[in-house]
Amino acid sequence: MSDASPHEGLSTLLHEARTFAPSPEFAAQANGTAELYQQADADRLAFWAEQARTYLTWEKDFEEVLDWSQAPFAKWFVGGKLNACVNAVDRHVEAGHGDRVAFHFVGEPGDTQDITYAQMHQKVQRAANALSELGIGKGDTVTIYLPMIPEAVVAMLACARLGAPHTVVFGGFSSDALHSRIQDAGSKVVITADGGWRRGKPSALKPAVDGALAQGDTPVEHVLVVQRTEQDVDWSEGRDIWWHDALAAAADTHEPEFFDSEHPLFILYTSGTTGKPKGVLHTTGGYLLQNAYTTSVVHDLHPETDVYWCTADIGWVTGHSYIVYGPMTLGATQVMYEGTPDTPHQGRFWEIIQDKKVSILYTAPTAIRTFMKWGKEIPEKFDLSSLRLLGSVGEPINPEAWMWYREVIGGGRCPIIDTWWQTETGATMISPLPGVTATKPGSAMRAIPGITADVVDESGEPVGRDAGGYLVITAPWPAMLRGIWGDPERFKETYWSRFPGVYFAGDGAKFDEDGNVWVVGRVDDVMNVSGHRMSTSEIESALVSHPKVAEAAVVGANDATTGQAICAFVILREDAVEEADEVGEGAELVAELRNHVAKEIGAIAKPRQILIVSELPKTRSGKIMRRLLRDVAEKREIGDVTTLADSSVMDLITEGLRAGD
Ligand code: WT7
Repeated sequence: MSDASPHEGLSTLLHEARTFAPSPEFAAQANGTAELYQQADADRLAFWAEQARTYLTWEKDFEEVLDWSQAPFAKWFVGGKLNACVNAVDRHVEAGHGDRVAFHFVGEPGDTQDITYAQMHQKVQRAANALSELGIGKGDTVTIYLPMIPEAVVAMLACARLGAPHTVVFGGFSSDALHSRIQDAGSKVVITADGGWRRGKPSALKPAVDGALAQGDTPVEHVLVVQRTEQDVDWSEGRDIWWHDALAAAADTHEPEFFDSEHPLFILYTSGTTGKPKGVLHTTGGYLLQNAYTTSVVHDLHPETDVYWCTADIGWVTGHSYIVYGPMTLGATQVMYEGTPDTPHQGRFWEIIQDKKVSILYTAPTAIRTFMKWGKEIPEKFDLSSLRLLGSVGEPINPEAWMWYREVIGGGRCPIIDTWWQTETGATMISPLPGVTATKPGSAMRAIPGITADVVDESGEPVGRDAGGYLVITAPWPAMLRGIWGDPERFKETYWSRFPGVYFAGDGAKFDEDGNVWVVGRVDDVMNVSGHRMSTSEIESALVSHPKVAEAAVVGANDATTGQAICAFVILREDAVEEADEVGEGAELVAELRNHVAKEIGAIAKPRQILIVSELPKTRSGKIMRRLLRDVAEKREIGDVTTLADSSVMDLITEGLRAGD
């Protein structure tokens, strides 16, 4: 735990008086209704059983809804058998929707591709056969390191079809980070691409895979390479295989096997409070169900008429849940965009919405704040009248950004869903139901039907209304993580030991006077930078692995656009200090350290600011007081220093910084 108080910042929250009720027209057509809350309250497990039979196709029906006898290790829909890929693809084709577009793909350079469910069906069958040829079967993990291209979805679903848990690694992670994930997951096969298009240039992905595998000590036998950019790549004969060759050579039909409801579906690595990222494990039935259900009642997706766009990358849980498993299980038509919002111009998102007639947009507050900064004249040039629902995810959305999103993008007519959830929760937990809830700008409102959340104090007691504390989930839920890959103890300790019997989310939150939840942000040493989760200690480990660094402390400083920004305080080794003084290379050294972090973790982890200091503020027991470093990083008056072992340290730091300005 950090020394951050969960109550920090709560007093600055508005007592928000504005509410926005859904229009009668929206409410009349909405999938989510007020009755769902009553049904779930009356009998939660019967409620989930009914949803599971409504939203999923089971090869064999389940016998028991929940087995919680081995808590906190849950089993949902016990005895049921299903195949996630069949639910996401095959059954839509069988139902006669093969001609429906699954993806309107928009490449960054401007190439487009419409892929129907029938075409997806052909692709996942061929890909499943190609993977089986390489020895992949039930229980084998496959690492996927791809840009935002349709093959990423095909690869994930082909793995699911085979019962081979995928582990998708975001393309922004470095070869070192990729290596440790391949190793931890024990993958025999890696699926990558020659590159992707990013800001007008081809990015390099294959070299990162080559670099990771050159480090050795992995079970990788084969690398499948998707051709996207056609740039030259190094080739390891015998190991590397072109994706298109493998698919062309594979049989075009694949008979799916059905797996236990609790069969592992995927592992996704996320930053925790310690240096090593944890492999969050999700299984098939419960995860798929909660995603299909929430995509229906929260995103209000109507697969026959909507065009849905979730702007997340497949490398994060949002892409897994709200591009692949939720929407596709419902048979949605989606937009997938490869590139960045500013390429080739700052209106790219709005142009895509106009061209593809997007009706549901799901994006992150950091993106909304960036669009605000660029100015409303840009979206105003486009026809956004197809939009009917707007979603937000990944971090708290400030009321100002919420209002801008509503007015400028939603034309004042679209309900906003502010969805709170985590990699670990697997699917949305707290959110308005868009046809039911009168929303308040900045609040995720209430736990959705079937989910029970609370806010508790230090001793685990509910705080009641108009008070703040820690956000907890008080009963197991279908999409909950089933554990940390290879580390059951860490699962118990991280989530289930802080408050006995309930799930500790790691977030601070407040109940307002009406019982709505306002999520404030992390109360542990996890940062949220542009909706990306980063651990302070992971970046500290990366910094101290540099030969010139003796000690490092990292904090997340408030940032108007990215939510938080990474700010590092570094103490140099003595020889490095002397060298830096002699050649006056402070700025160069800072650049070197930033690049070192990019190499160790990825460019997304580069600190915005690195401050070279001579001391770090520590308590008498040696704990770094990050609160004081945040004061420095946010250019605030330094707070209470009485618990410091040496209270003059902060003077040294602030004086040193002023001298360096
Ligand atoms: C953390 C989880 C949810 C998928 C993307 C991020 C923060 C997420 C909200 C929201 C306030 C939010 C929390 C949470 N967060 N959504 N609507 N309002 N905070 O998943 O990387 O696992 O991060 O993101 O702090 O704990 P993640």
